[in-house]
Amino acid sequence: MNINIEKYFENKKKILAFIEKNRGKYITLGNWMKEFIEDDLVLSRSINKTPVVLMQILSKFNVYSDGYDPYKELAKLLEKYSFLEGNCCEVGAGNYPRLAELTAPQIKLKKGTLTIYEPNILFTKIDNVTIIKDKFKKSTNINHIDTIYGMFPCEASITIAEKAFEEDKNLLLAFCSCDHSTKEHPKWLGTYWAEDFCMDYREKYGHEVEIIDWPTTIGIDFPIMVRQKIKK
Ligand SMILES: C[S@@+](CC[C@H](N)C(=O)[O-])C[C@H]1O[C@@H](n2cnc3c(N)ncnc32)[C@H](O)[C@@H]1O
Repeated sequence: MNINIEKYFENKKKILAFIEKNRGKYITLGNWMKEFIEDDLVLSRSINKTPVVLMQILSKFNVYSDGYDPYKELAKLLEKYSFLEGNCCEVGAGNYPRLAELTAPQIKLKKGTLTIYEPNILFTKIDNVTIIKDKFKKSTNINHIDTIYGMFPCEASITIAEKAFEEDKNLLLAFCSCDHSTKEHPKWLGTYWAEDFCMDYREKYGHEVEIIDWPTTIGIDFPIMVRQKIKK
């Protein structure tokens, strides 16, 4: 079970109070999230069927069973590659930047910095994080950045990958389920776009490209692209 029932019911009131307090920020989504929790719908959903806007809150209140919290598992992967040091940049951090909240203390400990780009961020006071409420673009200056990462950064995925490879940055990019195919990055018939994108990058950059899976507990079947910078 991806949700720890005991922790969930212990925290249910707090989750509802959080949603209520921030209902103005979430606008119409607030009512839907409240109903979702009131009716305990999270208990019957697998992780990949829970909208990210709620996943962020469930993670914030620590209600996932051990090994099932996608934000914590991605933070573990970043740590495994020693990516949580130096100057880091997270793209597409989400309405509630849960991954940034989890990774910032570790980055601070190693005397690094964390800058996040998210045009739709709703919570702008996260310790030790520089928040840029704007889109990450091809023209964004990342000269001082060592590592770029993104969890389901949606349409920013291509820009993140292009910049990491062209500007020699560490990269950890967990693709979302969307189809972002373009003329430059097409989708082959009947296949999943991100897999094709990874194959294209493998062809273009060879061993620089590593493709890994999410831990099986998470049950998310989309690839994660990793690259380690060449110039240390
Ligand atoms: C599916 S959400 C994922 C949010 C968060 N990473 C998570 O997993 O909880 C994708 C996010 O990417 C953001 N996004 C899309 N294009 C972006 C860009 N060019 N720069 C920064 N953020 C972007 C969207 O605003 C959205 O919040």
